[in-house]
Amino acid sequence: MNIACDIATTRASATACANVALVKYFGKRCETYNLPAAGSLSVTLQPLRTTTQVAIDGQPGDDVVYLGDALASVPFTARVSRFLDLLRQEAGSTSRVVVTTSNNFPTAAGLASSASGFAALALAATHALRIPTTPQSLSAWARRGSGSAARSIPGGFVVWHAGSAPDGSDSFAESIAPPGHWDIALVIGIAATGPKADSSTLAMNRTRDTSPYYRAFIDSTAHWLAEAQQAVHARDIEKLGDIAEHSALAMHAATLAARPGILFFNPTTTAALHQVRQWRRDGIGAWFTCDAGPQPKVLCSAADAQEIAERLRQVPGIQDIITATPGDGATLSG
Ligand code: DP6
Repeated sequence: MNIACDIATTRASATACANVALVKYFGKRCETYNLPAAGSLSVTLQPLRTTTQVAIDGQPGDDVVYLGDALASVPFTARVSRFLDLLRQEAGSTSRVVVTTSNNFPTAAGLASSASGFAALALAATHALRIPTTPQSLSAWARRGSGSAARSIPGGFVVWHAGSAPDGSDSFAESIAPPGHWDIALVIGIAATGPKADSSTLAMNRTRDTSPYYRAFIDSTAHWLAEAQQAVHARDIEKLGDIAEHSALAMHAATLAARPGILFFNPTTTAALHQVRQWRRDGIGAWFTCDAGPQPKVLCSAADAQEIAERLRQVPGIQDIITATPGDGATLSG
């Protein structure tokens, strides 16, 4: 996919799905280029989607960002503008950008929207600014907005390579299997709404700087990444689930041991984790993962998703359930 340059284009619209990592990214080796300390593996997830329109109107001045129907907050707009500055520099543009973005999942649900958000923005803005891209360079651009956004450019089962180049040119994500490769599902429980206490960026930097378990987590990741890729290719859900649960718990162990310690789980998260293990003892294939927030996410085969959703809904404190399945990569939209 080479995004064609259209001389008349000053507007573009793009859409991208969220993703959930089964081998976690949690640490940077370079903050300037937003480079990860280790590789990671994720599934791009429908129906969780961001759609973003970008208009380059040739006017100088501050960018204008709408989130849903309202003007976005100052910190949100500032983060978008910092990302757009990188693209403007590449394109030799001084124009402000008007961005209109919306998620089809509740932002208040505390699900990470930065991955789908920066993936959709990277695609729409590079197109509108006429920056030529390849799938790899587009993923690397999205990475500059938010690391996990690199993984929302490709579809299906995705690996983000740690890379070793100082400028990050070899740190991009690519699909290792298309969405139709394997009928799995992620059943997501909403265990809390409202803003989270610690952003993933802050949490991973503090963990890197202060946790005695950070190095062990990073050093073990390459092994689990290779094993997880094999599990995806072999459609071995027991192996992938076991690695996913381990990677998540190892990440949370590292954050817990930071100074001050970072505890993303709430009582509902912990209850869900215990339940998932009980379901496994009952013979149901279900494995737990959790990111930089309290929402439990359960990996299972698509055939078991309804049963898991009904069970997860019964966990005290679970407010809502979203069932997601492997989805397509980012695309330009009408
Ligand atoms: C726990 O991609 O949000 O979800 O690169 O600083 O924007 P920045 O971090 P972000 O971190 C995601 C962390 C995670 C694990 C993962 O998605 O791999």
